[in-house]
Amino acid sequence: MAKPPLSMKPTGWFQVAWSDEIAVGDVHVMKYFDQEMVAWRAESGQLTVMNAYCEHLGAHLGYGGTVIGEVLQCPFHGWQWSHQGRNVCIPYEDRPNRGRRITTYPVVERNESVYIWHDIAGRAPYFEAPDVFADFGDGSAATDYYPQQRLFRQALEMHPQYVLENGVDFAHFKYVHKTPIVPVFTRHDFAAPVSFVDFTITFEGDDGQRIEDVNSGVEAINGGLGIAVTKSWGMIDNRTISAITPVDEFTSDVRFMVYIGRPQGDSATRDPERAAAKAAEFGDEVIRQFSQDIHIWAHQRYSDPPALANSEYQGFTAIRNWAKQFYPDGRGGSAAELAGRT
Ligand code: FES
Ligand SMILES: [Fe+2]
Repeated sequence: MAKPPLSMKPTGWFQVAWSDEIAVGDVHVMKYFDQEMVAWRAESGQLTVMNAYCEHLGAHLGYGGTVIGEVLQCPFHGWQWSHQGRNVCIPYEDRPNRGRRITTYPVVERNESVYIWHDIAGRAPYFEAPDVFADFGDGSAATDYYPQQRLFRQALEMHPQYVLENGVDFAHFKYVHKTPIVPVFTRHDFAAPVSFVDFTITFEGDDGQRIEDVNSGVEAINGGLGIAVTKSWGMIDNRTISAITPVDEFTSDVRFMVYIGRPQGDSATRDPERAAAKAAEFGDEVIRQFSQDIHIWAHQRYSDPPALANSEYQGFTAIRNWAKQFYPDGRGGSAAELAGRT
């Protein structure tokens, strides 16, 4: 394995589950950023993500912990913990231990996903997790689309930044995704933690066409390194979400979601089953294309500095400079390296 020389503890929003994996009363076990964590859903529906170990004697709350109303009760001695990670009850004492607190993570549920804010310095969120509908400002909503289709690949040896760099990598489309011609970028906006990349692309025709004549493309919004959302235009209406979350110092979980637009006209109402089947087929194709990228990323070695072609220089430099802001030392190095330098 080629361990990336980039920190696996970047700051930002990262997907840790899908909302429908955690019903009311569920305690969901997971590990991200080298931390054992639990996500539990209270009676009210509120979801809490916290570190997994009880501050009393260290039981793992994911193995036998129970949701009681709005608290999570430890299986070992019955201590109860709130949404804020505070101890609110010791069943055999008059008062709780107000001093002890389990680390919790800011959490949002959006587009059927559970996103947590991760920052090793403990800062509050300073940008928003992107929304695959609302953030394109076109009035679209999930109801305009068929149900979300998903891909989930666990513990791959890759870094979230690889996926973001794919967004400026015009040359790979022809080779990895077999587009007839090389796409062109029409927007690179890396001014803020949420960045924007637009490009013109086609999957149709032959290599005789000119990109200037192509009338289709993709708009992408990158919410930090963890989550990117896209909207297509001029082709089958689709939206995607890619979410890469570090598990430990070597591996990441990859989630990819696709929505295919429902037809506007009456053809779907005439044969809604056929329309839905065709949409599902197209969604599978979008997922297959993303899998082609994964095949590369999961075996890639991060090249720094890379041997860039002239035409690649601007895009890769912009995205790599932008990415640095999310790392603990502002340079891309790992926290351990940073500690070693001080
Ligand atoms: S270890 Fe959790 S209550 Fe004792
Ligand atoms: Fe790609």
